[in-house]
Amino acid sequence: MPDRYLSFTGTAPGRFLTRRLGLPQPAALHRWSPDRPALDGPLLPLTAGPSALDLAPVLARTGPAVDPAGAAVRPAAVVLDATGVRDVDTLAGVHAALHPVVRSVVPSGRIVVLGAPLDPADHHQSAAQQALEGFTRSLGKEIGGGRTVNLVRLTDAGAAESTLRFLLSPRSAYVSGQVIDVLAAAGPVPPADPGRPLAGRTALVTGAARGIGAAVAETLARDGARVVVLDVPQAAQDARRLADRLGGTALTLDITAADAGERIAAELPGGLDVLVHNAGVTRDRRLVNMPAERWSSVLDVNLASVLRTTDALLAEGTLRPGGRIVATASIAGLAGNAGQTNYGASKAGIVGLVRSLAPRALAEHGVTVNAVAPGFIETRMTAAVPLFIREAGRRMNSLAQGGLPVDVAETTAWLADPASGAVNGQVVRVCGQSLLGA
Ligand SMILES: NC(=O)c1ccc[n+]([C@@H]2O[C@H](COP(=O)([O-])OP(=O)(O)OC[C@H]3O[C@@H](n4cnc5c(N)ncnc54)[C@H](O)[C@@H]3O)[C@@H](O)[C@H]2O)c1
Repeated sequence: MPDRYLSFTGTAPGRFLTRRLGLPQPAALHRWSPDRPALDGPLLPLTAGPSALDLAPVLARTGPAVDPAGAAVRPAAVVLDATGVRDVDTLAGVHAALHPVVRSVVPSGRIVVLGAPLDPADHHQSAAQQALEGFTRSLGKEIGGGRTVNLVRLTDAGAAESTLRFLLSPRSAYVSGQVIDVLAAAGPVPPADPGRPLAGRTALVTGAARGIGAAVAETLARDGARVVVLDVPQAAQDARRLADRLGGTALTLDITAADAGERIAAELPGGLDVLVHNAGVTRDRRLVNMPAERWSSVLDVNLASVLRTTDALLAEGTLRPGGRIVATASIAGLAGNAGQTNYGASKAGIVGLVRSLAPRALAEHGVTVNAVAPGFIETRMTAAVPLFIREAGRRMNSLAQGGLPVDVAETTAWLADPASGAVNGQVVRVCGQSLLGA
Protein backbone atom coordinates (compact mmCIF):
# COMPACT_ATOMS: atom_id res chain seq x y z
CA MET A 1 0.00 0.00 0.00
CA PRO A 2 2.13 2.98 -1.21
CA ASP A 3 2.20 6.16 0.87
CA ARG A 4 0.61 8.55 -1.67
CA TYR A 5 0.64 11.49 0.74
CA LEU A 6 4.44 11.21 1.01
CA SER A 7 4.73 11.20 -2.80
CA PHE A 8 2.42 14.24 -2.99
CA THR A 9 4.38 16.28 -0.43
CA GLY A 10 7.51 15.46 -2.42
CA THR A 11 6.22 17.66 -5.27
CA ALA A 12 6.42 21.49 -5.26
CA PRO A 13 2.60 22.04 -5.37
CA GLY A 14 2.13 19.32 -2.74
CA ARG A 15 4.65 20.97 -0.44
CA PHE A 16 3.05 24.39 -0.96
CA LEU A 17 -0.48 23.18 -0.33
CA THR A 18 0.23 21.02 2.71
CA ARG A 19 2.35 23.75 4.28
CA ARG A 20 -0.44 26.31 3.79
CA LEU A 21 -2.92 23.92 5.40
CA GLY A 22 -0.58 23.15 8.30
CA LEU A 23 -0.50 19.44 7.42
CA PRO A 24 2.40 17.07 8.23
CA GLN A 25 5.50 17.48 6.07
CA PRO A 26 7.15 14.07 5.68
CA ALA A 27 10.54 14.16 3.98
CA ALA A 28 11.79 11.39 1.70
CA LEU A 29 14.29 9.62 3.97
CA HIS A 30 17.83 8.86 2.91
CA ARG A 31 18.16 5.09 3.43
CA TRP A 32 21.27 2.99 2.84
CA SER A 33 21.85 1.80 -0.74
CA PRO A 34 25.01 0.65 -2.50
CA ASP A 35 24.93 3.89 -4.53
CA ARG A 36 24.44 6.14 -1.53
CA PRO A 37 25.90 4.31 1.47
CA ALA A 38 26.92 7.34 3.56
CA LEU A 39 25.39 10.59 4.77
CA ASP A 40 25.68 13.57 2.41
CA GLY A 41 28.26 15.66 4.25
CA PRO A 42 30.78 15.87 7.05
CA LEU A 43 30.53 15.23 10.76
CA LEU A 44 30.84 18.06 13.23
CA PRO A 45 32.09 17.01 16.68
CA LEU A 46 31.05 19.27 19.58
CA THR A 47 31.56 19.15 23.34
CA ALA A 48 29.56 20.35 26.32
CA GLY A 49 31.42 20.27 29.62
CA PRO A 50 34.75 18.56 30.29
CA SER A 51 35.03 15.12 28.69
CA ALA A 52 37.27 12.14 29.37
CA LEU A 53 36.17 10.23 26.25
CA ASP A 54 38.76 9.35 23.64
CA LEU A 55 36.33 10.00 20.84
CA ALA A 56 38.41 11.30 17.94
CA PRO A 57 39.89 7.96 16.74
CA VAL A 58 36.46 6.33 16.89
CA LEU A 59 34.72 9.12 14.98
CA ALA A 60 37.48 8.97 12.37
CA ARG A 61 36.38 5.39 11.61
CA THR A 62 32.59 5.75 11.78
CA GLY A 63 31.82 7.05 8.30
CA PRO A 64 31.30 10.75 7.62
CA ALA A 65 34.51 12.78 7.26
CA VAL A 66 35.17 14.68 10.47
CA ASP A 67 35.22 18.45 10.22
CA PRO A 68 36.69 19.46 13.59
CA ALA A 69 37.02 23.13 12.79
CA GLY A 70 33.31 23.34 12.04
CA ALA A 71 34.24 24.84 8.69
CA ALA A 72 31.48 22.92 6.94
CA VAL A 73 28.56 25.15 6.16
CA ARG A 74 26.16 22.21 6.41
CA PRO A 75 27.10 19.17 8.51
CA ALA A 76 25.33 15.86 7.83
CA ALA A 77 26.02 14.70 11.36
CA VAL A 78 26.67 16.36 14.68
CA VAL A 79 28.05 14.41 17.64
CA LEU A 80 27.75 16.30 20.92
CA ASP A 81 29.89 14.83 23.69
CA ALA A 82 27.91 15.73 26.81
CA THR A 83 29.39 13.01 29.03
CA GLY A 84 30.98 15.71 31.19
CA VAL A 85 27.70 17.48 31.94
CA ARG A 86 27.42 17.27 35.74
CA ASP A 87 24.99 20.05 36.73
CA VAL A 88 22.62 22.68 35.42
CA ASP A 89 25.49 25.08 34.70
CA THR A 90 27.40 22.65 32.47
CA LEU A 91 24.09 21.60 30.89
CA ALA A 92 23.96 25.10 29.40
CA GLY A 93 26.86 23.94 27.23
CA VAL A 94 24.38 21.72 25.33
CA HIS A 95 22.39 24.76 24.28
CA ALA A 96 25.54 26.75 23.56
CA ALA A 97 26.93 24.01 21.31
CA LEU A 98 23.82 23.08 19.33
CA HIS A 99 21.86 26.32 19.10
CA PRO A 100 24.17 27.85 16.45
CA VAL A 101 24.35 24.74 14.24
CA VAL A 102 20.98 23.01 14.45
CA ARG A 103 19.57 24.97 11.52
CA SER A 104 22.42 24.00 9.23
CA VAL A 105 22.18 20.20 9.55
CA VAL A 106 21.32 18.75 6.11
CA PRO A 107 17.99 16.96 5.54
CA SER A 108 18.15 13.33 6.76
CA GLY A 109 21.11 14.46 8.91
CA ARG A 110 21.90 13.04 12.32
CA ILE A 111 22.38 14.52 15.77
CA VAL A 112 23.84 12.11 18.32
CA VAL A 113 24.17 13.26 21.92
CA LEU A 114 26.61 11.29 24.07
CA GLY A 115 25.75 11.05 27.74
CA ALA A 116 27.19 9.36 30.81
CA PRO A 117 25.47 6.80 33.05
CA LEU A 118 23.52 8.40 35.88
CA ASP A 119 25.59 8.52 39.07
CA PRO A 120 23.36 7.29 41.94
CA ALA A 121 25.60 9.09 44.45
CA ASP A 122 25.24 12.49 42.74
CA HIS A 123 21.73 13.85 42.22
CA HIS A 124 23.04 16.94 40.43
CA GLN A 125 24.84 14.82 37.85
CA SER A 126 21.80 12.52 37.55
CA ALA A 127 19.48 15.47 37.01
CA ALA A 128 21.73 16.97 34.36
CA GLN A 129 22.28 13.65 32.56
CA GLN A 130 18.58 12.76 32.67
CA ALA A 131 17.90 16.23 31.25
CA LEU A 132 19.71 15.08 28.09
CA GLU A 133 16.91 12.55 27.53
CA GLY A 134 14.17 15.20 27.55
CA PHE A 135 16.37 17.42 25.39
CA THR A 136 16.97 14.66 22.83
CA ARG A 137 13.32 13.63 22.58
CA SER A 138 12.17 17.24 22.28
CA LEU A 139 14.70 18.16 19.60
CA GLY A 140 13.74 14.99 17.70
CA LYS A 141 10.12 16.14 17.68
CA GLU A 142 10.86 19.62 16.35
CA ILE A 143 13.82 19.23 14.00
CA GLY A 144 11.97 17.89 10.91
CA GLY A 145 13.35 17.26 7.43
CA GLY A 146 13.98 13.55 8.04
CA ARG A 147 16.68 14.43 10.59
CA THR A 148 17.04 12.18 13.63
CA VAL A 149 18.21 12.85 17.19
CA ASN A 150 19.36 10.08 19.53
CA LEU A 151 21.12 9.80 22.89
CA VAL A 152 23.83 7.21 23.57
CA ARG A 153 25.02 6.65 27.14
CA LEU A 154 28.53 5.28 27.26
CA THR A 155 31.78 5.21 29.19
CA ASP A 156 34.10 3.84 26.51
CA ALA A 157 34.05 5.32 23.01
CA GLY A 158 35.63 2.20 21.47
CA ALA A 159 32.85 -0.06 22.76
CA ALA A 160 30.30 2.25 21.13
CA GLU A 161 31.91 2.26 17.69
CA SER A 162 29.37 -0.03 15.99
CA THR A 163 26.53 1.97 17.54
CA LEU A 164 27.94 5.27 16.32
CA ARG A 165 28.59 3.79 12.88
CA PHE A 166 24.91 2.78 12.73
CA LEU A 167 23.47 6.03 14.05
CA LEU A 168 25.74 8.16 11.85
CA SER A 169 24.68 6.37 8.66
CA PRO A 170 21.59 6.16 6.43
CA ARG A 171 20.91 2.73 7.98
CA SER A 172 19.25 4.37 11.00
CA ALA A 173 16.83 6.48 8.91
CA TYR A 174 13.74 5.57 10.97
CA VAL A 175 15.37 5.48 14.43
CA SER A 176 14.87 8.73 16.31
CA GLY A 177 14.26 9.90 19.86
CA GLN A 178 15.98 6.83 21.28
CA VAL A 179 18.12 6.46 24.37
CA ILE A 180 20.61 3.64 23.97
CA ASP A 181 22.89 2.42 26.76
CA VAL A 182 26.20 1.04 25.52
CA LEU A 183 27.45 0.05 28.92
CA ALA A 184 27.75 -3.75 29.02
CA ALA A 185 31.19 -5.10 29.84
CA ALA A 186 31.99 -6.22 26.30
CA GLY A 187 34.79 -8.60 25.54
CA PRO A 188 37.49 -7.53 23.11
CA VAL A 189 35.87 -6.28 19.92
CA PRO A 190 36.80 -8.59 17.06
CA PRO A 191 38.40 -6.92 14.06
CA ALA A 192 35.32 -7.10 11.86
CA ASP A 193 35.21 -5.93 8.27
CA PRO A 194 32.59 -3.14 8.60
CA GLY A 195 31.44 -3.97 5.06
CA ARG A 196 30.65 -7.62 5.93
CA PRO A 197 30.60 -7.82 9.74
CA LEU A 198 28.68 -11.12 9.76
CA ALA A 199 30.98 -13.03 7.42
CA GLY A 200 31.41 -16.59 8.66
CA ARG A 201 28.39 -16.34 10.97
CA THR A 202 25.11 -18.21 10.87
CA ALA A 203 21.84 -16.37 11.52
CA LEU A 204 18.37 -17.82 11.97
CA VAL A 205 15.33 -15.58 11.45
CA THR A 206 11.86 -16.81 12.46
CA GLY A 207 8.87 -15.75 10.38
CA ALA A 208 11.23 -14.81 7.55
CA ALA A 209 9.17 -15.83 4.51
CA ARG A 210 7.77 -12.31 4.14
CA GLY A 211 7.48 -8.83 5.67
CA ILE A 212 9.99 -7.65 8.22
CA GLY A 213 11.53 -11.11 8.66
CA ALA A 214 12.34 -11.39 4.96
CA ALA A 215 14.03 -7.97 5.06
CA VAL A 216 16.02 -9.04 8.12
CA ALA A 217 17.20 -12.21 6.38
CA GLU A 218 18.18 -10.21 3.32
CA THR A 219 20.08 -7.57 5.32
CA LEU A 220 21.94 -10.13 7.43
CA ALA A 221 22.92 -11.96 4.22
CA ARG A 222 24.12 -8.66 2.74
CA ASP A 223 26.31 -8.31 5.84
CA GLY A 224 27.86 -11.72 5.17
CA ALA A 225 25.77 -14.11 7.27
CA ARG A 226 24.64 -17.55 6.16
CA VAL A 227 20.91 -17.31 6.83
CA VAL A 228 18.34 -19.87 7.86
CA VAL A 229 14.84 -18.77 6.85
CA LEU A 230 12.32 -20.27 9.26
CA ASP A 231 8.57 -20.14 8.67
CA VAL A 232 5.38 -22.22 8.96
CA PRO A 233 4.60 -25.01 6.46
CA GLN A 234 2.02 -22.79 4.65
CA ALA A 235 4.84 -20.35 3.80
CA ALA A 236 7.36 -23.04 2.82
CA GLN A 237 7.49 -22.05 -0.84
CA ASP A 238 8.24 -18.37 -0.13
CA ALA A 239 10.78 -19.37 2.52
CA ARG A 240 12.59 -21.67 0.09
CA ARG A 241 12.60 -19.08 -2.69
CA LEU A 242 14.11 -16.46 -0.37
CA ALA A 243 16.66 -18.89 1.08
CA ASP A 244 17.76 -19.90 -2.44
CA ARG A 245 18.17 -16.27 -3.47
CA LEU A 246 20.29 -15.54 -0.38
CA GLY A 247 22.36 -18.71 -0.60
CA GLY A 248 20.93 -19.89 2.72
CA THR A 249 18.58 -22.66 3.81
CA ALA A 250 14.89 -22.80 4.61
CA LEU A 251 13.51 -24.47 7.73
CA THR A 252 9.81 -25.30 7.74
CA LEU A 253 8.69 -25.29 11.33
CA ASP A 254 5.88 -23.90 13.45
CA ILE A 255 7.77 -22.07 16.17
CA THR A 256 5.07 -22.95 18.71
CA ALA A 257 5.93 -26.67 18.48
CA ALA A 258 7.01 -27.86 21.91
CA ASP A 259 10.28 -29.21 20.49
CA ALA A 260 11.01 -26.27 18.13
CA GLY A 261 14.26 -25.39 19.96
CA GLU A 262 15.54 -28.96 19.81
CA ARG A 263 14.68 -29.20 16.10
CA ILE A 264 16.54 -25.98 15.35
CA ALA A 265 19.52 -27.26 17.34
CA ALA A 266 19.47 -30.54 15.37
CA GLU A 267 19.35 -28.55 12.12
CA LEU A 268 22.43 -26.51 13.14
CA PRO A 269 25.06 -28.94 14.45
CA GLY A 270 27.74 -26.33 13.70
CA GLY A 271 26.04 -23.84 16.02
CA LEU A 272 24.29 -20.50 15.65
CA ASP A 273 25.56 -16.93 16.05
CA VAL A 274 22.47 -14.79 15.54
CA LEU A 275 18.92 -15.70 16.57
CA VAL A 276 16.22 -13.26 15.44
CA HIS A 277 12.80 -13.87 16.99
CA ASN A 278 10.63 -12.12 14.43
CA ALA A 279 7.60 -14.41 13.91
CA GLY A 280 4.52 -12.71 15.26
CA VAL A 281 0.75 -12.63 14.87
CA THR A 282 -2.15 -10.37 15.80
CA ARG A 283 -5.68 -11.52 16.70
CA ASP A 284 -7.29 -8.21 17.64
CA ARG A 285 -10.47 -7.94 19.72
CA ARG A 286 -11.36 -5.87 22.72
CA LEU A 287 -10.99 -7.88 25.93
CA VAL A 288 -14.77 -8.11 26.44
CA ASN A 289 -15.06 -9.95 23.10
CA MET A 290 -11.84 -11.94 23.21
CA PRO A 291 -12.18 -15.71 23.53
CA ALA A 292 -9.40 -17.55 25.36
CA GLU A 293 -8.15 -19.02 22.07
CA ARG A 294 -7.36 -15.57 20.63
CA TRP A 295 -5.45 -14.75 23.77
CA SER A 296 -3.44 -17.95 23.92
CA SER A 297 -2.56 -18.17 20.22
CA VAL A 298 -1.00 -14.69 20.26
CA LEU A 299 0.79 -15.26 23.56
CA ASP A 300 2.09 -18.58 22.28
CA VAL A 301 3.61 -17.32 19.01
CA ASN A 302 4.81 -13.93 20.23
CA LEU A 303 6.09 -14.76 23.70
CA ALA A 304 5.95 -18.37 24.95
CA SER A 305 7.73 -19.77 21.88
CA VAL A 306 10.39 -17.06 22.17
CA LEU A 307 11.01 -18.05 25.80
CA ARG A 308 11.02 -21.79 24.98
CA THR A 309 13.34 -21.66 21.97
CA THR A 310 15.70 -19.21 23.65
CA ASP A 311 15.98 -21.46 26.71
CA ALA A 312 16.51 -24.56 24.56
CA LEU A 313 19.15 -23.01 22.30
CA LEU A 314 21.10 -21.57 25.24
CA ALA A 315 20.86 -24.85 27.18
CA GLU A 316 21.96 -26.94 24.17
CA GLY A 317 24.93 -24.60 23.62
CA THR A 318 23.72 -24.00 20.04
CA LEU A 319 24.18 -20.25 20.49
CA ARG A 320 27.93 -19.81 20.45
CA PRO A 321 29.85 -17.33 22.65
CA GLY A 322 29.73 -13.95 20.91
CA GLY A 323 26.18 -14.83 19.87
CA ARG A 324 23.34 -12.37 19.52
CA ILE A 325 19.64 -12.71 20.29
CA VAL A 326 17.35 -10.05 18.84
CA ALA A 327 13.67 -10.32 19.77
CA THR A 328 10.78 -8.31 18.36
CA ALA A 329 8.67 -6.16 20.65
CA SER A 330 6.33 -3.42 19.39
CA ILE A 331 5.24 0.06 20.40
CA ALA A 332 1.91 -1.63 21.23
CA GLY A 333 3.82 -3.38 24.03
CA LEU A 334 5.15 -0.05 25.32
CA ALA A 335 2.18 2.29 24.86
CA GLY A 336 -0.72 -0.19 24.68
CA ASN A 337 -3.32 -0.27 21.93
CA ALA A 338 -7.11 -0.68 22.02
CA GLY A 339 -8.11 -4.13 20.79
CA GLN A 340 -4.65 -5.53 21.45
CA THR A 341 -4.57 -6.64 25.09
CA ASN A 342 -3.22 -10.01 23.92
CA TYR A 343 -0.66 -8.55 21.50
CA GLY A 344 0.36 -5.71 23.86
CA ALA A 345 0.85 -8.21 26.69
CA SER A 346 2.95 -10.49 24.49
CA LYS A 347 5.18 -7.65 23.26
CA ALA A 348 5.62 -6.15 26.74
CA GLY A 349 6.58 -9.65 27.82
CA ILE A 350 9.44 -9.50 25.30
CA VAL A 351 10.73 -6.37 27.04
CA GLY A 352 10.68 -8.17 30.39
CA LEU A 353 12.46 -11.18 28.89
CA VAL A 354 15.20 -8.99 27.39
CA ARG A 355 15.83 -6.96 30.54
CA SER A 356 16.00 -10.02 32.78
CA LEU A 357 17.95 -12.41 30.57
CA ALA A 358 20.47 -9.97 29.06
CA PRO A 359 22.97 -9.73 31.94
CA ARG A 360 22.83 -13.48 32.68
CA ALA A 361 23.06 -14.58 29.05
CA LEU A 362 26.13 -12.38 28.60
CA ALA A 363 27.80 -13.55 31.81
CA GLU A 364 27.02 -17.25 31.36
CA HIS A 365 27.01 -17.71 27.57
CA GLY A 366 28.70 -14.61 26.11
CA VAL A 367 25.45 -13.88 24.25
CA THR A 368 23.75 -10.46 24.13
CA VAL A 369 19.96 -10.12 24.23
CA ASN A 370 18.22 -7.06 22.80
CA ALA A 371 14.91 -6.19 21.18
CA VAL A 372 13.69 -4.02 18.36
CA ALA A 373 10.32 -2.38 18.90
CA PRO A 374 8.84 -1.45 15.53
CA GLY A 375 6.27 1.31 15.23
CA PHE A 376 4.15 1.60 12.10
CA ILE A 377 5.96 -0.41 9.42
CA GLU A 378 4.57 -0.77 5.89
CA THR A 379 3.84 -4.53 5.67
CA ARG A 380 0.93 -6.83 4.97
CA MET A 381 0.11 -6.61 8.70
CA THR A 382 -0.43 -2.83 8.51
CA ALA A 383 -1.91 -2.83 4.98
CA ALA A 384 -4.86 -4.70 6.53
CA VAL A 385 -5.53 -1.82 8.95
CA PRO A 386 -8.57 0.34 7.96
CA LEU A 387 -7.69 3.47 5.91
CA PHE A 388 -8.14 6.22 8.51
CA ILE A 389 -6.42 4.32 11.30
CA ARG A 390 -3.62 3.48 8.86
CA GLU A 391 -3.20 7.16 7.91
CA ALA A 392 -3.09 8.16 11.59
CA GLY A 393 -0.55 5.42 12.31
CA ARG A 394 1.66 6.63 9.49
CA ARG A 395 1.66 10.30 10.47
CA MET A 396 1.78 10.08 14.27
CA ASN A 397 5.55 10.16 14.55
CA SER A 398 8.24 12.80 14.22
CA LEU A 399 9.09 11.71 10.66
CA ALA A 400 5.36 11.80 9.69
CA GLN A 401 5.54 8.54 7.73
CA GLY A 402 5.58 4.78 8.15
CA GLY A 403 8.83 2.86 8.32
CA LEU A 404 9.89 0.15 5.90
CA PRO A 405 10.81 -3.45 6.80
CA VAL A 406 14.41 -2.61 5.94
CA ASP A 407 14.50 -0.05 8.77
CA VAL A 408 13.86 -2.81 11.31
CA ALA A 409 16.31 -5.03 9.44
CA GLU A 410 19.14 -2.48 9.60
CA THR A 411 18.58 -2.02 13.33
CA THR A 412 18.66 -5.79 13.80
CA ALA A 413 21.89 -6.01 11.79
CA TRP A 414 23.55 -3.45 14.05
CA LEU A 415 22.50 -5.39 17.18
CA ALA A 416 23.72 -8.62 15.51
CA ASP A 417 27.14 -7.14 14.69
CA PRO A 418 30.00 -8.90 16.53
CA ALA A 419 31.25 -5.41 17.43
CA SER A 420 28.01 -4.64 19.32
CA GLY A 421 28.93 -6.66 22.42
CA ALA A 422 28.53 -3.64 24.70
CA VAL A 423 24.89 -3.21 23.64
CA ASN A 424 22.91 -5.52 25.90
CA GLY A 425 19.42 -5.48 27.40
CA GLN A 426 18.28 -2.65 25.14
CA VAL A 427 14.86 -2.18 23.56
CA VAL A 428 15.36 0.04 20.55
CA ARG A 429 12.29 1.51 18.94
CA VAL A 430 12.19 1.69 15.17
CA CYS A 431 9.24 4.01 15.02
CA GLY A 432 10.30 7.39 13.60
CA GLN A 433 9.82 8.62 17.19
CA SER A 434 6.19 7.62 17.47
CA LEU A 435 4.06 9.96 19.51
CA LEU A 436 2.78 6.90 21.38
CA GLY A 437 4.66 5.69 24.44
CA ALA A 438 7.92 6.94 25.89
N1 LIG B 1 4.32 -4.39 10.70
C1 LIG B 1 4.36 -3.62 11.77
O1 LIG B 1 4.01 -2.43 11.70
C2 LIG B 1 4.85 -4.15 13.09
C3 LIG B 1 4.86 -3.28 14.17
C4 LIG B 1 5.33 -3.72 15.40
C5 LIG B 1 5.80 -5.02 15.53
N2 LIG B 1 5.78 -5.85 14.46
C6 LIG B 1 6.29 -7.22 14.68
O2 LIG B 1 7.27 -7.52 13.70
C7 LIG B 1 7.23 -8.91 13.41
C8 LIG B 1 7.04 -9.14 11.91
O3 LIG B 1 5.86 -8.47 11.50
P1 LIG B 1 5.37 -8.39 9.98
O4 LIG B 1 4.60 -7.13 9.85
O5 LIG B 1 6.50 -8.66 9.06
O6 LIG B 1 4.31 -9.61 9.98
P2 LIG B 1 3.85 -10.57 8.80
O7 LIG B 1 2.51 -11.09 9.21
O8 LIG B 1 3.99 -9.93 7.45
O9 LIG B 1 4.92 -11.76 8.89
C9 LIG B 1 5.01 -12.62 10.00
C10 LIG B 1 5.67 -13.90 9.58
O10 LIG B 1 5.71 -14.75 10.73
C11 LIG B 1 5.32 -16.05 10.33
N3 LIG B 1 4.74 -16.80 11.45
C12 LIG B 1 3.57 -16.57 12.08
N4 LIG B 1 3.37 -17.54 13.01
C13 LIG B 1 4.44 -18.37 12.97
C14 LIG B 1 4.80 -19.54 13.67
N5 LIG B 1 3.99 -20.07 14.61
N6 LIG B 1 5.96 -20.16 13.37
C15 LIG B 1 6.77 -19.66 12.42
N7 LIG B 1 6.49 -18.54 11.70
C16 LIG B 1 5.33 -17.90 11.98
C17 LIG B 1 4.26 -15.82 9.25
O11 LIG B 1 4.05 -16.97 8.44
C18 LIG B 1 4.88 -14.65 8.49
O12 LIG B 1 5.74 -15.09 7.46
C19 LIG B 1 6.11 -9.50 14.26
O13 LIG B 1 6.65 -10.00 15.46
C20 LIG B 1 5.24 -8.30 14.56
O14 LIG B 1 4.49 -8.45 15.71
C21 LIG B 1 5.31 -5.46 13.24
